Amino acid sequence: MKHTSYLSLVLAMSLAACEQRASPPAAGEDTPPAAAPKLAAADDGERTYQQVCKACHETGVINAPKVGDAAAWAKLLAEGQAIVTAHGWVGVRGMPPRGGRADLSLEDFARATAWMARSAGGDWQNPDAPMLAAIRAEEAKRVEALRARP
Ligand code: HEC
Repeated sequence: MKHTSYLSLVLAMSLAACEQRASPPAAGEDTPPAAAPKLAAADDGERTYQQVCKACHETGVINAPKVGDAAAWAKLLAEGQAIVTAHGWVGVRGMPPRGGRADLSLEDFARATAWMARSAGGDWQNPDAPMLAAIRAEEAKRVEALRARP
C-alpha cells in the first residue's frame, strides 16, 4: 500500500511538471507586438493620434507618413524629433497646421508625433521641457522661413 501511494505521488509530481512545461505564455501575452509603441504612459500620444491624426496617417492619404511604416518614417527619424514635430505643427504641404485641430496643444501634438515615430521604429518620447523648447525654436525658424518666401 505504501508503495502505491509513493508511486502515485511521483506520477502526480511529474504530471504537474509536464503541465508547467506544456503551457508557455501564449504568444503576445507577455511581449507586446513588434509594432507597438515602447512607451506605456497614461497619455502616450495614442489618444490624440486616434482622435485627430489617424484620419490621414493610418492610410497615408496625400503622402502622409503612415503609422508603422518604417520606410516612410526613416527620413523623418533622421531629421530629428524637434524639427519634424515643429514642421508638422506649422503645417507642410498636405499636412494641415496642428493636424487641423486649432485647439490642440503643442504637447499633445508632440506626443502624438512621438507615438507615430515609435510605431515606425523610432525612440521618440513624450516631450520634456527642453524638447518642447527645441520644438518652439524650430517652429519660430520655420514660420520665419515661410514669411521670407516671395
Ligand atoms: C488631413 C490629413 C492629416 C491629418 C489629420 C494629420 N496629418 Fe500629419 N501629415 C499629413 C500629410 C499629407 C503629411 C505629409 C506632408 C508632406 O511631406 O507632403 C503629414 C506629415 C506629418 C508630419 C511630418 C512633417 C515633416 O517634417 O515632414 C508630422 C510630424 C505629422 N504629419 C504629424 C501629425 C500629427 C501629430 C497629427 C495629429 C495631431 C497629424 N499629423 C494629422 C496629413 C495629415
